[in-house]
Amino acid sequence: MNGQSPIVSEAGRTLIIGSTGYIGRFVTEASLESGGGTYVLVRSRLLSPSKASIIKAFQEKGCHIIYGSINDQSLMEKVIRENHLEVVISAVAGYAILDQIPLIKAIKAAGTVKRFLPSEFGHDIDRAEPVEPGLTMYKEKRKIRRLIEEAGIPHTYICCNSIAAWPYPDNTHPGEVLPPMDCFQIYGDGSVKAYFVDGKDIGNLTIRAVKDDRTINKTVHFRPPKNLLNMNDLSSLWEAKIRRKLPRVTVSEDVLLNAAKEMRIPQSIVAAITHDIFIKGCQVNYNLDKESDVDVCSLYPDATFRIMDDCFDDFLAMLVDNAKTVQKAAGKDNGIIMPDAKREPLPITA
Ligand SMILES: NC(=O)c1ccc[n+]([C@@H]2O[C@H](COP(=O)([O-])OP(=O)(O)OC[C@H]3O[C@@H](n4cnc5c(N)ncnc54)[C@H](OP(=O)(O)O)[C@@H]3O)[C@@H](O)[C@H]2O)c1
Repeated sequence: MNGQSPIVSEAGRTLIIGSTGYIGRFVTEASLESGGGTYVLVRSRLLSPSKASIIKAFQEKGCHIIYGSINDQSLMEKVIRENHLEVVISAVAGYAILDQIPLIKAIKAAGTVKRFLPSEFGHDIDRAEPVEPGLTMYKEKRKIRRLIEEAGIPHTYICCNSIAAWPYPDNTHPGEVLPPMDCFQIYGDGSVKAYFVDGKDIGNLTIRAVKDDRTINKTVHFRPPKNLLNMNDLSSLWEAKIRRKLPRVTVSEDVLLNAAKEMRIPQSIVAAITHDIFIKGCQVNYNLDKESDVDVCSLYPDATFRIMDDCFDDFLAMLVDNAKTVQKAAGKDNGIIMPDAKREPLPITA
């Protein structure tokens, strides 16, 4: 399989569900860049200002907007048929995984979809076994996989591992938050590794996989070797960016398990998955030895992944921008120290 010449299909008309969400935005951007017709399903005409501006930006790039919900099976069947949609990519939130059941029925009934990607974008949920409440979400994702397979719908499962950001144990979108500035919380001894993948790379490689016949009915694993890092590596990288040492506090396995047991949704789901990644090593404790496994790096040896060092530069830029905004609002130099390259190294605090 890997190493053979890819049979690349023409970009079919692609429907993306969840395009206003964190992962969905990257996938939609990539689809629009690749051409071929991008449609997005939007649940309501009454959008928050931030979501409205996302949709407006997509429209300006030629995106077609369809209003409706995936819970409406007959509407979805009509939408698929009338727009001759060939690819459906779902990036609905973790709380809406089972909402995809009517969508699967609609895809089956329409019979024209050449590829369906359900909302996955994380771990191989048939292999990983996090504690509750992470397990419930994985069971729902497994149920969706089995329904797709039983319906005989051509599919691809994207296992992109972790988002390139500081992996906070209670935040579903760590890419939207700066890495720590006070102290690092290190899970266990900080030595268990994980793959950190930039959102843009997730979007671009998802769209590339959709057009590649080698990924039909496969699970595509994102394992870029240079992005395999542990908590200690991440801490040192960020310290080098802010040119300051920060204290490192150990977060034990029990602390993560207790946070999971609190059953606060979604925070406890993130705690359960954080435990699975950084204590149990769920991203690295198996080989890609199933017939259905494909490694994205073997599929696309030319693909370049943004390395964590560069991703942390983005956070550093955010930090400097934030500090400038606060200083401007205060109308004076209010003592905020920015990690400006022209300044002297900041003092070591730990
Ligand atoms: N690998 C990782 O580190 C990582 C991180 C985060 C998420 N994930 C996974 O990525 C997937 C997407 O999660 P996310 O966090 O990106 O989601 P999100 O930001 O919460 O966005 C969810 C999107 O789904 C839409 N949606 C929800 N229910 C819908 C329905 N019934 N019909 C149509 N649209 C619906 C929402 O639309 P509205 O705008 O109308 O609300 C929104 O656009 C999930 O499977 C999640 O587990 C992985």
